[in-house]
Amino acid sequence: MSSHTDPRDRLGLRSPVIQAPMAGGGDTAALVAAVNEGGGLGFVGAAYLTDVQITERARDIRGRTALPFGINLFAPTPAPAPSPATAEALARIAPFHLELGLPEPQAPTLADDGFERQFAALLDSGAAFYSVTFGLPPAETVAAAKARGMRVLGTATTVAEAVALEQAGVDAVVAQGSEAGGHRGSFLGDAWNDRGANLVGTMALVPQVADAVGVPVIASGGIMDGRGIAAALALGAVAVQMGTVFLTCDEAGPPEAHKQAILSAREDQTRVTRAFSGRPARGIVNRFMEVVEDPLAAGAVLPFPLQNALTRPLRTAAGRAGRAEFLSLWAGQGLRLARRRPAAELTAELLNRTRSVLSDLPARHRA
Ligand SMILES: Cc1cc2nc3c(=O)[nH]c(=O)nc-3n(C[C@H](O)[C@H](O)[C@H](O)COP(=O)(O)O)c2cc1C
Repeated sequence: MSSHTDPRDRLGLRSPVIQAPMAGGGDTAALVAAVNEGGGLGFVGAAYLTDVQITERARDIRGRTALPFGINLFAPTPAPAPSPATAEALARIAPFHLELGLPEPQAPTLADDGFERQFAALLDSGAAFYSVTFGLPPAETVAAAKARGMRVLGTATTVAEAVALEQAGVDAVVAQGSEAGGHRGSFLGDAWNDRGANLVGTMALVPQVADAVGVPVIASGGIMDGRGIAAALALGAVAVQMGTVFLTCDEAGPPEAHKQAILSAREDQTRVTRAFSGRPARGIVNRFMEVVEDPLAAGAVLPFPLQNALTRPLRTAAGRAGRAEFLSLWAGQGLRLARRRPAAELTAELLNRTRSVLSDLPARHRA
């Protein structure tokens, strides 16, 4: 039964399961609607969509489900300085272009990130949730989203980031542990110390964030089933945001080679890398990562978003050709628990399993 004093109810969540926004095509309208149908909250990662595409995607979702959904953007970040590594970065990927029959790679240029237009489309999209990663949501966007009755979420990878997000006015903090697939949301301090040796795992991060902020906490990273959801609730989270487990669903949009890689990889075969985009992100280790991040080639990776623009033609061609060795195979460390199945069925099972894990716990505790 719902109650107005329950933090999850106040946040407008029907259940503890949130399907993570996954920019790059994983989170199709069909996936979002199926997650909603199964009892969770579907999200669109819209960072790489134009304003027009955001409007179209939202219309597509509204045509499939009347239930609330969310839209996520990358917080605007200052443009990087021109990089002295451009020639080396181009040289690193040129042989791969040749291998895939692509023209020689070109030095990437910085395009306007279009955040303001994206946000304007988001405001009119009918979404019930606005979330950001990579930084604080700009103050005017928090005010505008709240004025439309939307809930605002921000992503933190440390306690300091969670506190900064709370001060910026978010309604809840997504605490993203180091197990998480895809990009790290980090935006304060040194998020890339000694190749990620300082990253904080979900188990350690969630209770420390829950103690530090007054807003609800959503746990994210390595959570794949009812056991993980129950654990996150025990750590003080009100909900979980799960990415990898939804990526292998029938309705999810990554290239088939990406789904296959998740279904066949081991838990120790992912790594946090800057090779694809210039920002740290966790994916399954492949040839591209190993060559581009060869320690002997230090300095061959451009800052975000230049490296992302540089590698895009290669990734697109690799997706079409089914060449997993050149794809950004984003995945979290829980990948052995991924299955290929319909998303509504998965979501309903996640909720059922969470209930049964929680009701079995007292007996386990006695044992
Ligand atoms: C393919 C992929 C794309 C992602 N894109 C986004 C994104 O656009 N915005 C965002 O806030 N988080 C993004 N994430 C991170 C998720 O929000 C979440 O933190 C992560 O998936 C949780 O870890 P898990 O994959 O182990 O469940 C992405 C994750 C994956 C796997």
